[in-house]
Amino acid sequence: MFARLDEAFQRERQFTTDASHELRTPLATLQTILSVIRAERRSPEDYEQALADIAEEVNRLRSLVEDLLRLAQQDLQPGIAHERVDVVNLLAGVTDALRPLAESKGVQLTLTAPTALTLDGDSDSLIRLFVNLVENAIKYTQQGRIAVTARATVDRFWVTVADTGSGIPAAHLPHIFNRFYRVDPARTTQGTGLGLAIALDIVQAHGGTITVESVVDHGTTFTVQLPVSSKPGLL
Ligand SMILES: Nc1ncnc2c1ncn2[C@@H]1O[C@H](COP(=O)(O)OP(=O)(O)O)[C@@H](O)[C@H]1O
Ligand SMILES: [Mg+2]
Repeated sequence: MFARLDEAFQRERQFTTDASHELRTPLATLQTILSVIRAERRSPEDYEQALADIAEEVNRLRSLVEDLLRLAQQDLQPGIAHERVDVVNLLAGVTDALRPLAESKGVQLTLTAPTALTLDGDSDSLIRLFVNLVENAIKYTQQGRIAVTARATVDRFWVTVADTGSGIPAAHLPHIFNRFYRVDPARTTQGTGLGLAIALDIVQAHGGTITVESVVDHGTTFTVQLPVSSKPGLL
């Protein structure tokens, strides 16, 4: 009992440390850009470049703050809204919205699903969950395709998001759902490392599971399994 409490406390403290570090980095970068550009008169090109750099950091900060607020809200209200959600329709919306982004990289994004399937859950959270998975697939896939596939059994709904991207080395797999964890330490891609932590929270709030399989240089498949009714007897 005490060990568990201590562990939770440690995790909390680690989270605060990580969050402050992640917030301070882009702020420090912004301050540096500003002080360098203001130190003397610059050419219009230099000002333009500085504005572009500032815009990029502000974007980073914005997604970080949005992700942190989302996590904080999920911590405060772990319950979910219970509505009838047509998940197939929801997946079609998510894939249609993200297809232009995939195609701009030359990556094909397809959805294979039954005609309709409703489950008991929270549609905003479910959109966030699948957007996070498909956005990752797009971000970490340089060529090939992303296949979103949905199928249903009597009481369960399964969605896989499979890509032909970079893959994740086995040693990293156990950690990718941790808050702030990113495989690429150089942080060459944009991201907060919070997307999968948010996805896991959402899946758990729905009483489901999320698993990952990956082969480096071949691709990654995330499988989400959700109960059709999170309140037995409601349907
Ligand atoms: N589809 C994928 N292909 C390869 N790596 C992935 C994929 N999805 C997630 N990852 C790895 O897991 C890490 C954590 O993902 P996430 O929490 O969404 O953070 P990020 O903000 O970096 O996207 C990513 O930084 C990336 O290294
Ligand atoms: Mg992500």
